[in-house]
Amino acid sequence: MTPMTILGVDERVNSLCKAHKPSQFRLEDVVRPNILALQPYYTERDEYEAALLLDANENSYGPMITEKSEVTDAMQMHRYPAPDLMGTRQAATKLRNMPDPAFTFLGVGSDEVIDLMLRCFARPGKDKILICPPTYSMYKISAMVNDVEVVAVPLILDGKSFALDVPKVLETMQNDPLIKMVILCSPGNPTGSLLARESISAVLNCPNYRGLVVVDEAYIDFPLEEQAMKLRYVDQPVSAVDLVPEYANLIVSQTLSKSFGLAGVRLGLAFAQPATVQIMNNTKAPYSISAPSAYYASQALSPEGIKKMHNCVRTMIQNRTEMIEALQSIPNIGRVLGTNDANFVLVEILKDGRPSNERACYIHRVLAQEHGLMVRNRCHELGCEGCIRISVGKPEENQRCTQAIRQLLQS
Ligand SMILES: Cc1ncc(COP(=O)(O)O)c(C=O)c1O
Repeated sequence: MTPMTILGVDERVNSLCKAHKPSQFRLEDVVRPNILALQPYYTERDEYEAALLLDANENSYGPMITEKSEVTDAMQMHRYPAPDLMGTRQAATKLRNMPDPAFTFLGVGSDEVIDLMLRCFARPGKDKILICPPTYSMYKISAMVNDVEVVAVPLILDGKSFALDVPKVLETMQNDPLIKMVILCSPGNPTGSLLARESISAVLNCPNYRGLVVVDEAYIDFPLEEQAMKLRYVDQPVSAVDLVPEYANLIVSQTLSKSFGLAGVRLGLAFAQPATVQIMNNTKAPYSISAPSAYYASQALSPEGIKKMHNCVRTMIQNRTEMIEALQSIPNIGRVLGTNDANFVLVEILKDGRPSNERACYIHRVLAQEHGLMVRNRCHELGCEGCIRISVGKPEENQRCTQAIRQLLQS
């Protein structure tokens, strides 16, 4: 890789770009030419510090809000936030053990990260992405918005578990040079299943493939916590972030929406080589992350915030176990599919002993209409016949849900 051609990558950052795998990968071959030509966004504030700011047409009188407090003062909402959000980036870098904040990108939720990657690396009307359904729906939606074709290689459903069809994925990647990105989801949504480390490594090392590999780890704190508790995954790395310093073709995306409980704040993270992060920063709108979002993200990523997150994830893991036990005791509930590595479960609704889409649709509708209870109907997804996806809530919420399902399936 020759990172000097990426605008905004200075000598210091350049010296951090040490990834040496895979040998055939050159970032410049993947970035759309119009994106490669973008200069980093410049503001005087990158260069100087000043007490009196009259450069950005802000309102010196402050925010016109009705409830002011120390917190709202700290947010400095009448000012544009610093585009590099260095404090938040540093905290995220430390959390995931990255070598430097230059490896960390912040976006407006991981949905923005997904869309941005498509905009940066796939030429509309020409390039393709590879996804492995059943998977997160936004990959396809973002691809359609960006006029990028989707190639699907379904996950293998073996008994109740989902796995990557590695030979088929590799064959497809190698035979189609227009595939610029492979998006893997681990733990998957709606599968709830962590992908095997060897499968991810095989995709990263795919011979002759010159595109990027994205691993979406929106739910990664759940298996990480189980690993820390020595409940599961004791002998394999759970997250792919440790591979980022080694692999120039890897982007790992994460989010504060799940384990950190900040879905409303819209803060997504991506970890990749500095040159890749720079390309994404050059492309995004400079102030897309709001001052309140950055403020709350920094709180969540503080040592106390992280401790809170770990405790909460442990509670949710316990709640998940109880929810699975309760579901499995209900007649006409079939298998709980996947390996349950996230904060939801995917369960089959049966009719006459077989998964039934008709009955899953009925349960989904009646729960919403008559019980004021929303679950996600996934029965039309590949490999998810008769399935609904239920988020793990608090014990009383889960009990209400399982009792309502029991009542409906018994009647
Ligand atoms: C696998 C996966 N990736 C990304 C997202 C989007 O997360 P965010 O809230 O950060 O946009 C979700 C949300 O449900 C998800 O399930």
